Amino acid sequence: MADFDLKRYIEERRAIVDKWLDSLLPRPEGPSGKVVEAMRYSLSAGGKRVRPILLMAGCNAVGGDHTKILPAACALECVHTYSLIHDDLPAMDNDDLRRGKPTCHKVFGEAIAILAGDGLLTYAFELMTHPDLMEAVDARTILDCTAVFADAAGIRGMVGGQTADILFEGKTVDANTLSFIHAKKTGALIRASVEMGAMLGKGRREQIQSLKQYGTALGLAFQVVDDILDVVGDQEKIGKPVGSDLKNQKATYPALFGIDKAIEKAKDLKEEALSSLSDFGPEAEPLRAIATYVVERDR
Ligand code: IPE
Ligand code: IPE
Ligand code: MG
Ligand code: MG
Ligand code: MG
Repeated sequence: MADFDLKRYIEERRAIVDKWLDSLLPRPEGPSGKVVEAMRYSLSAGGKRVRPILLMAGCNAVGGDHTKILPAACALECVHTYSLIHDDLPAMDNDDLRRGKPTCHKVFGEAIAILAGDGLLTYAFELMTHPDLMEAVDARTILDCTAVFADAAGIRGMVGGQTADILFEGKTVDANTLSFIHAKKTGALIRASVEMGAMLGKGRREQIQSLKQYGTALGLAFQVVDDILDVVGDQEKIGKPVGSDLKNQKATYPALFGIDKAIEKAKDLKEEALSSLSDFGPEAEPLRAIATYVVERDR
């Protein structure tokens, strides 16, 4: 599959996710409709849908059918989008642009933005109990998968990483602390996406383990590249402000090691991710292509 067309693959998968997100999310109505409007605003602003795509690709890599697990794919995007809404708040990174549009709090105000984040986080776990998912996968697997999801999103994962990210603003960090922050705030949810896909696809224990390793390396690489794009990216393409990390004196790979070393680090992590797939055949080709995409992306 040397001629695997990743661009087309991503476009197709993204379209599936967008369609399902629209149909699974509630419609704004009644006195609390504003919060649903805000949730939908941030969700539909146009993200890359990397996490849902990874879940589907992880499922396919173990021979599973991605069309059966779309509520879980959408659940990941809900948690990710909530994290972006809260990350942009004045009390956090204080950014005004996200996915090429004004941030949620700029449009709806801080209170509704906080609630939209809360709503998306909660709705994600409601989606894990969606009848379509319950019909396709046995309850025990869904439960195990939900535990992996909650762990990655919460204090041992993203919330923990975001906490350290804030506490280390303006401070000197060592390499270990920096990789802790990045592995937790971004790496964990990306790793969980692939792992959950493999679990829902009923992969064997060793397969799930290998895909977990792939996701761990890829997740860290993803944030290293995010740091790099914050320095050398094009605002039009990344859809968020360039230089946000410098403004907030964040602990980042370019700040600690310089751009060249950061690029080298991302490439090393890509190789690590690829080597975790050595036992897989063509069914893991999308995951291989995604690893290259993550490191070479400009948005
Ligand atoms: C941005 O994530 C925030 C990080 C965790 C690095 P993405 O780069 O996946 O953002 P979207 O979803 O495409 O907007
Ligand atoms: C955010 O990291 C990670 C999240 C959990 C949202 P960043 O603060 O670097 O993400 P961007 O650059 O604002 O998207
Ligand atoms: Mg941040
Ligand atoms: Mg930010
Ligand atoms: Mg960033």
